[in-house]
Amino acid sequence: MPETPEKPDSVPTAWREWQDAPWGRLRYAVAEANLVRDLDTPGDGRPSRVLDLAGGDGGDAVRLAARGHHVTIVDHAPAMLAAATERASAVGLAELITCVRADVTALPAGLGEGGFDAVLCHNLLPYMDDVPGTLATALAPLKPGGLLSVMAINRHSAALNTAVREMDPAAALAALDTDRARTRMFDSALTLHTAEEIIPVLHGLGCQNVRHYGIRSFCDYITDDALKHDPAFYADLERLELATTARPPYMHTARLFQLTARKAGTGTGTETGRRDG
Ligand SMILES: C[S@@+](CC[C@H](N)C(=O)[O-])C[C@H]1O[C@@H](n2cnc3c(N)ncnc32)[C@H](O)[C@@H]1O
Repeated sequence: MPETPEKPDSVPTAWREWQDAPWGRLRYAVAEANLVRDLDTPGDGRPSRVLDLAGGDGGDAVRLAARGHHVTIVDHAPAMLAAATERASAVGLAELITCVRADVTALPAGLGEGGFDAVLCHNLLPYMDDVPGTLATALAPLKPGGLLSVMAINRHSAALNTAVREMDPAAALAALDTDRARTRMFDSALTLHTAEEIIPVLHGLGCQNVRHYGIRSFCDYITDDALKHDPAFYADLERLELATTARPPYMHTARLFQLTARKAGTGTGTETGRRDG
């Protein structure tokens, strides 16, 4: 397994600053919009039980808890979980967010056995060697018909990002043929994936109704980062990102991909209702 980002206590601070920046806010806003289309319409109207694997400091969890859902965050980094607990308390959501320190490859028995309405697996795959094994682990705690959401850096964005932002065509050319990268913030090696690689794995695990979204289809290719802090510019950008999250060709070169899918079982819909890829 590549080294994982259990790093010094300065990481949650830097990560939170990143989340609060326009590009971080877009990441969480678009992911939330994609999730709640399915999460906020349960048949019986009750709140969902959500498991956020490698949920870090709760960026997704607080948004879902603010909608009334109960979220359990699993992460192996104590500093991230401490930041999540503090964040949940600060916004009055402590009762809806539970933090569990564990490695996702060894989930405590109570969590791994099913019963969740949704499982998030956001930005974990780049740190894991065994993608099918990780996704099987993510599916196990889900009820039949439950919603899985997988997010990861889109390898298709790597060369574009390098060319446009670093203005380095030689490095962009090299980025075309590698799935290796590094994260400076977490000081860790990463493996880059594409949605086209992960969708068949989800099907192989019996998932249905697989939907593919792009996150930040435009933001990262606008090099004037200062402008993105302007509220009116940001609002226009967010509208654009929300409008293109499921719109080809933009979603295919977005910085991140998000895939949602239903675990096989009751209420999973039919193959004809599927909007794969
Ligand atoms: C890039 S952060 C993403 C956090 C969150 N999912 C999000 O998107 O905001 C990656 C997180 O994965 C956690 N992580 C990585 N490998 C893990 C593992 N094997 N078990 C549990 N947590 C892990 C790290 O501690 C870190 O909090």
